[in-house]
Amino acid sequence: MEDRKIYYIRDMRDEDISQVLDIDLDAFPTQWPHPTFTSYHHELRNKLAHYIVICRDNDPQQPAEEKPPAKDSPRVLSFIRGLVNHGRFFGLGRPSQPREYLAGMAGIWMMVDEAHIVTIAVKRLHKNQGLGEWLLISVIELAMRLNARVVTLEVRVSNTIAQKLYEKYGLSKAGTRKKYYSDNGEDALIMTTGDLTSPEYKLRLQQLSQAHHERWNYCYTGT
Ligand SMILES: CC(C)(COP(=O)(O)OP(=O)(O)OC[C@H]1O[C@@H](n2cnc3c(N)ncnc32)[C@H](O)[C@@H]1OP(=O)(O)O)[C@@H](O)C(=O)NCCC(=O)NCCS
Repeated sequence: MEDRKIYYIRDMRDEDISQVLDIDLDAFPTQWPHPTFTSYHHELRNKLAHYIVICRDNDPQQPAEEKPPAKDSPRVLSFIRGLVNHGRFFGLGRPSQPREYLAGMAGIWMMVDEAHIVTIAVKRLHKNQGLGEWLLISVIELAMRLNARVVTLEVRVSNTIAQKLYEKYGLSKAGTRKKYYSDNGEDALIMTTGDLTSPEYKLRLQQLSQAHHERWNYCYTGT
């Protein structure tokens, strides 16, 4: 069985954006317009926004080591390769070569004492392995550290998989936004937690997080 401790969660950085866009496209294929490099670049500078990624040191579908350049490779070629790898030829439009592999990501917007989950997604290849739940635990814990009183979000009425995950973490239906999604005119459910600061919610989160840890054996590192 795969060693689950190879995954870790950390804050999103500029160099993650190309992989984050791949996750977006993979997880939300019908979403239009799709976020762009520029939109994430701005989001990472938005003081209200906080994004995290779930990653590992290597791509599970690629050989672990990249071949080193041939010894007789001309010096000018390795100089150019170095520049390209650092994204200097492409300015802001091109992040540097990613080294880590990203399997999922999530983000919140903090609005006074409310944390709004703006995105949460896991690549299809890695679904049903507890990663989406780990991301949700992490953003709720992050929201608590930022003194949020509630976590809220919108979810498609047809997205029963995500709704099940949210219900597990105490989010319940608080309303509907009619025709919220422009791609197909679908309604959104608004889902909200109870009071995050209550001893009951803290205990529930602690128990669920412990159960997740025991079930999946991921290495909790915090964000
Ligand atoms: C929603 C999403 C993040 C879940 O991630 P995941 O890593 O596959 O889910 P996990 O393996 O962590 O499962 C956690 C919980 O989610 C729910 N769940 C996950 N897959 C499910 C399925 N196929 N059927 C029903 N419930 C499911 C369950 O409640 C599950 O808990 P359980 O194992 O105790 O039953 C993932 O499906 C995804 O990226 N979807 C596309 C993007 C999206 O819809 N994001 C939400 C936007 S609001």
